[in-house]
Amino acid sequence: SKNGYPFFMEKEIAEQPKAIKDTIEARITDDIVDFSKDGIPEEVFKNFQRLYFIGCGTAMHSGLVGKSLLQQFAGAYSNVEIASEFIYDNPVLDENTLVIAISQSGETIDTLEAVKMAKKMKATTISIINVRESSIAKASDYVIYTNAGPEIAVASTKAYSVQVAVMYLLTVQIAMINGKMTLEEGKAFIKKLRKIPDVVEEAVKNRETIHNISRKIIEAKDLFMLGRGLDYSAILEGSLKLKEISYIHSEAYSSGEIKHGTIALITQDTPVIAVVTQNKLASKELSNAIEVRSRGAKVILFVKDGIKLENEEEWYEVVRLRDVSDEFMIFPVTVALQLLAYYTSLDKGLDVDKPRNLAKVVTVE
Ligand code: F6R
Repeated sequence: SKNGYPFFMEKEIAEQPKAIKDTIEARITDDIVDFSKDGIPEEVFKNFQRLYFIGCGTAMHSGLVGKSLLQQFAGAYSNVEIASEFIYDNPVLDENTLVIAISQSGETIDTLEAVKMAKKMKATTISIINVRESSIAKASDYVIYTNAGPEIAVASTKAYSVQVAVMYLLTVQIAMINGKMTLEEGKAFIKKLRKIPDVVEEAVKNRETIHNISRKIIEAKDLFMLGRGLDYSAILEGSLKLKEISYIHSEAYSSGEIKHGTIALITQDTPVIAVVTQNKLASKELSNAIEVRSRGAKVILFVKDGIKLENEEEWYEVVRLRDVSDEFMIFPVTVALQLLAYYTSLDKGLDVDKPRNLAKVVTVE
């Protein structure tokens, strides 16, 4: 049941604090990550030479977060591949390869085929799955089940957040087993991660602020989202969400890349959402946003509280997001962009939970 919410999507957005908490806490023993509860021996995270994250759509986007985190905190390189491309791209797969497949439903055919291929070529396969006993879960060597509960809305929200939460757990596990994080550092990281459900709770409560922003884009035909680093991963997902349920054409662009061609599409009043939450990148992200603003774009800034803005009144709108450390900002940004898509769709009178042309489970290649 929708529990009093008009659409499942809103209910599922609101369920995220619990979903994240349940997913994280199930893998913590004595304040540190413990995948032995999932039956995964630690050596699996040590003895690999190559690591691929594979998935489709939203699930693939969570892999992008994993890649960034692994580089920053575990000194480990990985590739993120769209499952349907991976299968035909002659990926390098052998017994020293770890393949981590991500899927809410566990039934996406492209992801399933990719796992089967990886296994056939002797790679070790772990899947991150929400639906128990699903096909991908059964086809994989190991499974990390996410605890989001059933997700009904076609547009994925809580399933993504819990996949992302698993990325933090994997990062600590891989960093520690490979000597890139001490026990103390691992514990400190996990301590911060355990506060995320509260951060997400607060972000969900901020819904009216985001609803007001959605009213500013409801008439848009085309829109751009800009960000760098983890903000870029976040806008790829936020932009997909907006497209699929509001039918606004939205393109997520790395703020640094837009000037290499796409900025030609920025004209007077083009709506742009610029996400600026990474302390290290903020000055660059802001100067890229100023560049499009000076071409006439109406720039809505989603900015981390604590990042100073000069001449704040020059922005079309400014939304302040709760200040947590850079690597965790993906959570409040994700919620804000989910709510933005939700309210835009709702106010357009669309069927939020069942957007046209889409199915919850994609079983055609
Ligand atoms: C977008 C969305 C899709 C799915 C994709 C993979 O909101 O839900 O992009 O993420 O079809 O589905 P799963 O995770 O079930 O493999």
